[in-house]
Amino acid sequence: MDARVRTLFRVMCCLLVAVLASTSLTGCRRWRARRRGAAPVSASVVRGRALYQRYCALCHGQQLQGYAADHANAIGNAQFLSIASNAFLRSAITHGRPGTPMSAWGKESGGPLIESEVNDLVAFIRSHARRPFRNVDRMRVAGDADNGRLAYVQHCAPCHGDRGQGSDRAPSLAHPNLLNAVSDGYLKTTILEGRPGTVMASFRTLPEQTVNDVVRFIRTLDYAPPIPPAPVFEPPPGLDRLVMNPTGAAPVFTLREGRFVPGAQVLEAIRQNRRLVILDTRATSDWSRGHITGALPFPFYDIEEMARHLPRDGTWIVAYCACPHAASGHVVDLLRERGFQHAVVLDEGITWWTNQGYPTAQAAQVRP
Ligand code: HEC
Ligand code: HEC
Repeated sequence: MDARVRTLFRVMCCLLVAVLASTSLTGCRRWRARRRGAAPVSASVVRGRALYQRYCALCHGQQLQGYAADHANAIGNAQFLSIASNAFLRSAITHGRPGTPMSAWGKESGGPLIESEVNDLVAFIRSHARRPFRNVDRMRVAGDADNGRLAYVQHCAPCHGDRGQGSDRAPSLAHPNLLNAVSDGYLKTTILEGRPGTVMASFRTLPEQTVNDVVRFIRTLDYAPPIPPAPVFEPPPGLDRLVMNPTGAAPVFTLREGRFVPGAQVLEAIRQNRRLVILDTRATSDWSRGHITGALPFPFYDIEEMARHLPRDGTWIVAYCACPHAASGHVVDLLRERGFQHAVVLDEGITWWTNQGYPTAQAAQVRP
C-alpha cells in the first residue's frame, strides 16, 4: 500500500469508530430514557417527596446527601440503602433517636406523621436506591467481644467515641433505638463496605474475624444518651399565652453575630421575670418529652399559622433546637423576613441547656 492509501484507510477507520461510538451513546441514552419512562414514579413517592422537603431536607439535605446539619446521615447513600430494610427505615423515622437531633416523627411517639405518611417517606427514600437490596439480616456473626474491644478502640473510637456515644464526626453506635433495629449482618456489612462518599471508610483491610469481633463488641455497648421520659400528650397552652411575663420589662441581650443569644442571658431573663417569647422549633414529640420552662412548640416545619400570633411590638423571641442551630436558625431567618427583627437563636441549644441543669418542664407541668 502506498502512503496515500494508508492515510485514507486510517481516516476511514477513525470515522467508522466515531460513528459507532455516537450511535451507541444515543442508543444508551434512549435506553436509559425508556427505563425512566418504564418505571413511573408512584403516587406514594410523590407524596413522600413533599413530606421529605418539609420535614427532613433541613438536616439530611435536598438530595439526601446528609450533613446539611450536624451529622445527619447520608440517607440516600447507595451502600446504606442496599442493606437498610423498609422496616429499619420505618422504625428510624417513627421512633427517632431521642437524645440526638433525630426526632421521633411518628404520631404514636408524639410527632406529626401518621403511619401512611411514614410509608410514603420510606417509598421516597427507597426510590433513591441505586443498587439492588440485599437481605443481610440472617447473616450469623460469631466473634469475641474482648478481642473486638481492642480493634474498636484503635479503629472506631476516634469517631464513634469510646463508648459508642457518637461525636461531632460520627453518629452513635450504642443508641438503643439503633441496636434494637439493626442485625449483626447490617453492622458487619457496613464495617466491611463502609459508606462510600462519607468519611465512614471500608474496613476490608481488617481480618474478617476481627470485624466479627468488633460486631460482638458493639453489641455490648450500653451507653445510652439520657433519653427523656416517655412523652405526655398534653395539649400545649393556647397561643394567647405565647408571651412570658407580659407586663415585665424587656431583657438586655448581647448578641453574637447579631443573632445568637447565650443561654446564660436567657436564664437570667427568666429568673428576672422579663417579657419574652421562647419557641421550641423541634418536632412536637421533642417538646412533649421536655422543653425549656415556658417554651411553646413552634416546629420549624409549621411556622406560617403560628407566626401570625407572635407579638409585633419588639418583644424578644428566642428560638431553640437541639442541632443546635439548624431548625432554630431556619425559623429565625423566616421570622426576620416577616419583620420580627427581635427573633434570635439560643446559641448553645437545648441539649446544653438541659445538661446545665437549667429549668425545663415536662408537658404535664407547663407554665404555671
Ligand atoms: C434536626 C435534624 C434532623 C431532621 C429534621 C431529621 N433528621 Fe434524621 N437524623 C438526624 C441525625 C443527627 C441522625 C443521626 C442520629 C444519631 O446520632 O444516631 C439522623 C438519623 C436518621 C436515620 C437513621 C440513619 C442510620 O444510618 O441509622 C434515618 C433513616 C433518618 N434520620 C431519616 C429522617 C427522615 C425521613 C426525616 C424527616 C421526617 C428526618 N430524618 C429528619 C437529624 C435529623
Ligand atoms: C473517620 C470517622 C469514622 C471512623 C474511624 C469510623 N466510622 Fe463508622 N461511621 C462514620 C460516619 C460519619 C458514619 C455515618 C455515615 C453516613 O451514613 O452518612 C458512620 C457509620 C457507621 C455505621 C452505621 C450506623 C448507622 O446508624 O447506620 C456503623 C455500624 C459504623 N459506622 C461502624 C464503625 C466501626 C465498627 C468502625 C471501626 C472499625 C468505624 N465505624 C469507624 C465515621 C467513622
